[in-house]
Amino acid sequence: MGSGTPRRIGDRFALHPTHNIIKMRQLTAMPRTLTIPKVEAPAPAPPVVPRLRLGKLCVAIQAASAQELVERAEAALADALPEAKFLEFRLDSIPKPALALPKVKEFLLRHREVTAIGTCRRKQYGGHFVGSLAAELEMLQAAAEAGCQIVDLEVESAEAATKAQLAKFRAALREAGCALIISFHDFTRTKGLEQAAERIEAFAPDFVKVVATARSLSDNLAVLKLIEDHSLASQVVGIAMGEEGLLSRVLGPRAGGSFTFGAAEDGAETAPGQITARALRDLYRIEQLDQATRIFGVAGNPIGHSLSPLMHNTAFKRENVNAIMLPLKVKALSDLLKVVRELPLGGVAVTMPLKQEVLPQLANMDPLTAKIGACNTLRTGADGKLYGFNTDVAGVVRPLERRLRLQGARVAILGAGGAARAAVFALVGQGAEVYVVNRTHEKAVTLARQAKAKSLKHEVFAKQKFDVLVNATPCGMVGSKEAMPIAANELNASLVFDMVYNPLETPLLKLAKSRGVAVVSGLEMFVQQGARQFEIWTGKPAPEAEMARVVELELRRRG
Ligand code: ATR
Repeated sequence: MGSGTPRRIGDRFALHPTHNIIKMRQLTAMPRTLTIPKVEAPAPAPPVVPRLRLGKLCVAIQAASAQELVERAEAALADALPEAKFLEFRLDSIPKPALALPKVKEFLLRHREVTAIGTCRRKQYGGHFVGSLAAELEMLQAAAEAGCQIVDLEVESAEAATKAQLAKFRAALREAGCALIISFHDFTRTKGLEQAAERIEAFAPDFVKVVATARSLSDNLAVLKLIEDHSLASQVVGIAMGEEGLLSRVLGPRAGGSFTFGAAEDGAETAPGQITARALRDLYRIEQLDQATRIFGVAGNPIGHSLSPLMHNTAFKRENVNAIMLPLKVKALSDLLKVVRELPLGGVAVTMPLKQEVLPQLANMDPLTAKIGACNTLRTGADGKLYGFNTDVAGVVRPLERRLRLQGARVAILGAGGAARAAVFALVGQGAEVYVVNRTHEKAVTLARQAKAKSLKHEVFAKQKFDVLVNATPCGMVGSKEAMPIAANELNASLVFDMVYNPLETPLLKLAKSRGVAVVSGLEMFVQQGARQFEIWTGKPAPEAEMARVVELELRRRG
């Protein structure tokens, strides 16, 4: 954006000085042609520029009707941070946007504290508006006149407009005291962002908005770099859409972006990968993120439903650690490693199948990680190298050692996959007598041999008694076909530990409880392995009770 171009923002904002504050850095790019109350000062005072006060979070509102649009706006306001009432009206989401404008106007008169963006994107550029370019310009002008302080015009439309058309449009915006976003959207990939920004900056709008689609995690790096490179000269919004683009949505403002968009509620997203404003605010605390914030991730695929971000972000907040954890959808380890190096990330919680794949990348690892051959926790050292830990081991050991002496205890472990592997090595390491029982017996034999445990065929296992029975199969997990890893009459231990934590109470745990057998739920393991991660990353004791509380609450909410 050329800084010499005369632009005028919000003449009428001078009437509401309490809420029209643009960040200081942004002022350098702002015009000096506003209705400034004439002050009779002896020496020329620096110009006072009315300022739009923009929060970092703009709640995007779409609806099926004009009435619903303002109703949703009201609901969003009730939910938003009191000092950041910032909404986008997606006028194109309703069939006859012109009918919405009187309602929007009335809403904005009622809510003078609100800053509103009016958007009426045409269908060919990813919106829903089926009108012509002239109709779009007319609609945006009307939105400005209805009180929207900012309107969003896609760069293709700006380029297609005649000089006269555009000059008239911009004059009307100035007249209404409305700022202009010119935006670029790519719904398929992240490429040519610099060129897109240049196309937009040629028009010297108040805001440059570049939206791409992330196909990999490292696509976020390109978006964040664009924001960094342009945010000193322009007010920039940069976003990568799609699930992989979450990083850019959360970290854009920290990189210097003016703001980011959040959905009013689950299911009301106005763009792919958009998350709710509530999650951006409460879970990812985007208003508090700064340059000193350490970024952590939980990596896997799928990863959207992971409870690790909730658990760790709660812990960071509780312990006043300036850090945040984000879910990272990783299709290739190399993609994750690039982000770890270049963002950089302070550490990563690693899920399957990366736990094994990541081993050759580690500068060093704890002895159990090497023995098990699986790493669930990465920490980036001060030297920039990666160090690996396995906290699943502590996740298994800690809940059990609270309840019994593991040395010499007879433990049967059902399963021979990744989860079982961590449990078998962990418990052999504690001196327990470990028996591996698996549907495919050969796998039990192999694992037992590697870990210096014993294997048992199922029918033999069923006739014996154990101190502990550990379920390390997915049986009983939500979505799993099989509810129980054993028959009801095979329950033969004084303590049952289910590594499955969703649902909280699996059929196996229910059965054990009904028989008066003591139980350990997978939740306890999940929290314990997370608590050790927290300690590795922060050097502080983890707030375990709080971590357990939020995870349990969320699991109950998910039902
Ligand atoms: P995870 O990472 O959760 O351990 P995994 O590596 O796929 O997942 O291992 C799943 C384990 O649960 C395997 O040992 C599997 O048995 P097989 O080796 O015979 O495949 C076991 N498992 C899965 N479904 C099962 C079922 N319905 N009944 C019994 N065991 C089952």
